[in-house]
Amino acid sequence: MIKLAVFLCILCQCYAFKILVLFPLPGTSHGILGEGIVRHLLNAGHEVTYVTPLPYKDPPKNLTIVDVSSNHELMAVDDFWDFKKLMARTVNLQDVANIVDIMFVVSNGTLNHGNIQKLMADPKVHFDVVIAEWMYSELYSGFAPVFNCPLIWSSSMEPHAAVLSLIDEDPNPAYTADHMSSQDPPFSFSERVSELLTLLKIKYTKWSRYSRDSEAYNKAFTAAAVRRGNRLPPLNEAMYSASLMLGNSYVATGQPTRLPQNYKAIAGYHIKEELKPLPENLQKIMDEAKHGVIYFSMGSLLKSKTWPEEIKREILNMFSALKQTVIWKFEEVLPNLPKNVHIVQWAPQPSILAHPNCILFITHGGLLSTTETMHYGVPIIGIPIFADQFINVIRAVNKGYGLKVDLNNDVPANLKTSIQEILGNPSYRQRVKELSFIYHHRPVSPGKELVHWVEHVIQTNGAKHLRSKALDLPFYQRFYLDLLALIILVIVSVLFLVRKLVCANKYDSIKKNS
Ligand SMILES: *[C@@H]1O[C@H](CO)[C@@H](O)[C@H](O)[C@H]1NC(C)=O
Repeated sequence: MIKLAVFLCILCQCYAFKILVLFPLPGTSHGILGEGIVRHLLNAGHEVTYVTPLPYKDPPKNLTIVDVSSNHELMAVDDFWDFKKLMARTVNLQDVANIVDIMFVVSNGTLNHGNIQKLMADPKVHFDVVIAEWMYSELYSGFAPVFNCPLIWSSSMEPHAAVLSLIDEDPNPAYTADHMSSQDPPFSFSERVSELLTLLKIKYTKWSRYSRDSEAYNKAFTAAAVRRGNRLPPLNEAMYSASLMLGNSYVATGQPTRLPQNYKAIAGYHIKEELKPLPENLQKIMDEAKHGVIYFSMGSLLKSKTWPEEIKREILNMFSALKQTVIWKFEEVLPNLPKNVHIVQWAPQPSILAHPNCILFITHGGLLSTTETMHYGVPIIGIPIFADQFINVIRAVNKGYGLKVDLNNDVPANLKTSIQEILGNPSYRQRVKELSFIYHHRPVSPGKELVHWVEHVIQTNGAKHLRSKALDLPFYQRFYLDLLALIILVIVSVLFLVRKLVCANKYDSIKKNS
């Protein structure tokens, strides 16, 4: 009897669900976020189908890979990632309309990819939930009605208007910075106005592209939905139907933003609990660095070889005068390297940051980097390049664990002053340790939380009890514009009547007098 009870208990505990995870954007950091979700779900015993442009070499047993590596061809933006062009301001990576249009091409390409159409057409394929990355496009919301299952959005940045409006409403721009802003509240008058204008621009951009999106959505999903006998709602219904949003954000690095019940802030879930050991040479370099290690990496997109030659030289000269050891992630071999500078083509970033001798991280301020630095408690110098990196770095500065250096010809000199300030003043390190405590001080680890909420959505048939009521109201009701219209109508009518009466009286008295 007891054996049977235990067996039944275990059976209940490890219900294996079938989960579709979509991270089709070709980009290393998006791959890391998708891989994190997949890893936790697999560890919890679920069966995962993973749509990715970065296929695994030998996927584990419960993982099916849907390869969309041809998506790399859809992102013809390689020449954006060039320090010289960014410094000369010949490319603008902060224009939301631009980004939305680039991301549409990737999303539409994914939907029409042979492997994706094959997946939807296969009558044997079923899912209990779909988890899709939101990257400036809502098209992937159609997978949920096609497979007749709940939808979970994954958001790679701190919560912002474009994602929060999908599950609730826009945050108030008077005290919430946009994700591509470079200012942190409290705002001055002009900053407050500019945040409002940014919000309106995003709204306008999405609105003006709705018919294109809707057409692409219908074209890609209708046949599959019909074949499966499922109703395909219009795009502007499907995109607001998500049960949950998994956010790569947390208050220690971000802001205490007001969030709806179905937003789950789980930043840090991508970091493995067991670190990979450092390669032998790096381990030796780091162990022997008496004065500490400065780790310098501008992420995976920007190619180091596009740094202007003289700036590269000046940076190296500046590094050579330091007592510290420098590990620079750089994709080319540099001649005449100073003794204390080590170039690595690829860097196991978490393992480097975790080393007790790592005392400073020079970064572009991508959210994965600022999250990892918080995880291990290392202060930063941020050189932000695009997207949310500006606001991430400004927050690091305002929270007191980092300094910002602008990308221009003065990078070497400004880096030098900032390095001296951070290494000479213990407050940055102290502050990052305090924030790191806040970051780790959660009821459960972000990975466990992730699995819990995904299972919660499945086991409660879409967690409708978490859905914000704001989504049921048209915007004029949410802002009481109907009441405002009524008040204006009453005032105008009263004024009109008063005027009528006054005129009539005047007319009467004139008549009487004559
Ligand atoms: C979306 O992709 C399909 C298939 O490649 C293509 O026919 C269609 O024109 C694309 N839609 C838009 C609006 O670009």
